Amino acid sequence: MTVKSTKKTTAASAETTEVWDVLVIGAGPAGYVAAIRCAQLGLKTACVDEWLNHQGKPSLGGTCLNVGCIPSKALLESSHLYRQANSELLQHGISSTSLAMDVSVMQSRKNQVVNELTQGINALFKANNITLIHGRAKIIASDTIEVSSRKTRKKTATLKADNIIIATGSSPVRLPQAQLENNCIVDSAGALELKEVPQRLGIIGGGAIGLELGSVWSRLGAKVVIFEAMQDFLPMADSKLAKLFKRSLKKSGLEIRLNARLISAEVKNNKVRLLYEDSSGKKQNEKQEDFDKLIVAVGRKPNSDRVFGEELGIEIDERHFILVNQQCQTSVPNIYAIGDVVRGPMLAHKASEEGVMVAETIAGHQAAVNYELIPSVIYTHPEFAWAGKTEEQCKVENINIKTGSFPMLASGRARAMAEAEGMVKIIADAETDRVLGVHIFSVQASELIAQAVLMMEMQATAEDMALTVFAHPTLSEAMHEAALSVHGRAIHIKN
Ligand code: FAD
Ligand code: NAI
Repeated sequence: MTVKSTKKTTAASAETTEVWDVLVIGAGPAGYVAAIRCAQLGLKTACVDEWLNHQGKPSLGGTCLNVGCIPSKALLESSHLYRQANSELLQHGISSTSLAMDVSVMQSRKNQVVNELTQGINALFKANNITLIHGRAKIIASDTIEVSSRKTRKKTATLKADNIIIATGSSPVRLPQAQLENNCIVDSAGALELKEVPQRLGIIGGGAIGLELGSVWSRLGAKVVIFEAMQDFLPMADSKLAKLFKRSLKKSGLEIRLNARLISAEVKNNKVRLLYEDSSGKKQNEKQEDFDKLIVAVGRKPNSDRVFGEELGIEIDERHFILVNQQCQTSVPNIYAIGDVVRGPMLAHKASEEGVMVAETIAGHQAAVNYELIPSVIYTHPEFAWAGKTEEQCKVENINIKTGSFPMLASGRARAMAEAEGMVKIIADAETDRVLGVHIFSVQASELIAQAVLMMEMQATAEDMALTVFAHPTLSEAMHEAALSVHGRAIHIKN
């Protein structure tokens, strides 16, 4: 593709507009990665982003860096260290007499991590000659974007491009019966900013955010109750490991109430009064409970409103996700959409891989994302990670399977670390022996799952995994033993 740098003056706005090869809307993990890859491929690229941080300053990285993956992991790390120091170090012979938690220091460290990483994206944009434009973008024609100031709403620029990538992400779903209020009822962004540990913390939604942020505040001393509307806990995960996981969360202090339907949440005297229906028994009971804070974490919705008008013909589905094909192309051929704003799991790594795929496609290369092998991780302690199919999914798809598993209790390394909770489970096709799914509940599961994804990507069989040499003593050996156990050959457990 030829790189153009045409300067044009539009009569209507009498302003100078360049024609870009690619304009990216949104600088989250979908958009900033797409922009970098486009620039690497020699495409003249600009990125428009509207994010403002607490100081009212533009900040790149979208939800993930500003109020998502990164700040939540920073708080998970701090709170884990506190809990370890508080109750787990004694078994190693380590004791301290004056342990204290300063929430404001923890929050400052988290903010610093966020600032450094968001600044890092500015540096990457500069290094790759990507033009950054701050403001809210709206596509007004298939090759034209209008940018306006987020504060004044006034138009600030009109930009022209051969290709447009929509990477506008998602926002928390709001519940009419639990409106955000007075720092008492907060969404996930508010839950990352609490200035002190609440005594009693209620959470609506037992998904990834509820479990991770619930863990943070529970480790620091809050009594946490999670209200989940569904009957099953984490229905998308392997049911056996999900059961182990739920038991472990309970032991760690998270109370999870399934089948709990929120009726109302009201703030009075800085307390939240929750009215909910508990239908776990045969009878449906209306119950009331008071909390110091309530987090609403019931999923996220795509940011597809306000980005384009209907007249453009970009199609959306009934849940407002932009409709795209396998290559993330919308119904308008030169307009692509990636990340949380389109179908598939709302995960940063999925968003980034789509960004790379679209950049490559625009540059004329063949590119694809393997949607079957996107790993999921819940960063609790131990962590829960999985990739590929669950046993339940195989049943629905009529695939004959064999499984192997290995408890962390039998792992020498896990025992040496005093982290012997959990299990690795491998699902293989009964006929071909090909590994179809790997499910890990263990410390460092987020790191362990990468080797499983790689093996599945290379279409490894359980035997291939069993014939691979793993270093001893490592947590990875549990994967090896689980693969051996698919064929009844595990060494350190009775098959
Ligand atoms: P976003 O990150 O939402 O970025 C979209 C960007 O577009 C934003 O900067 C926004 O300001 C901008 N924008 C929107 N509209 C416009 C417009 N009209 N004009 C200009 N700019 C616009 N995922 C993981 O994989 N791992 C995790 O551990 C993880 N933890 C999370 C924890 C929390 C608390 C939350 C809330 C989410 C977490 N996620 C995690 C999900 C992850 O953050 C999202 O999947 C990811 O950020 C999606 O990337 P994106 O680029 O599609 O959208
Ligand atoms: P989620 O979809 O993971 O979980 C929301 C939960 O709320 C569901 O279990 C749902 O059944 C429940 N729910 C919905 N309405 C309810 C109601 N009225 N009352 C009670 N429960 C209700 O969404 P969550 O946790 O908000 O996270 C949003 C997105 O962010 C997810 O898609 C997730 O992929 C991503 N994320 C990823 C993380 C990770 O990868 N570790 C961490 C945090 C978020």
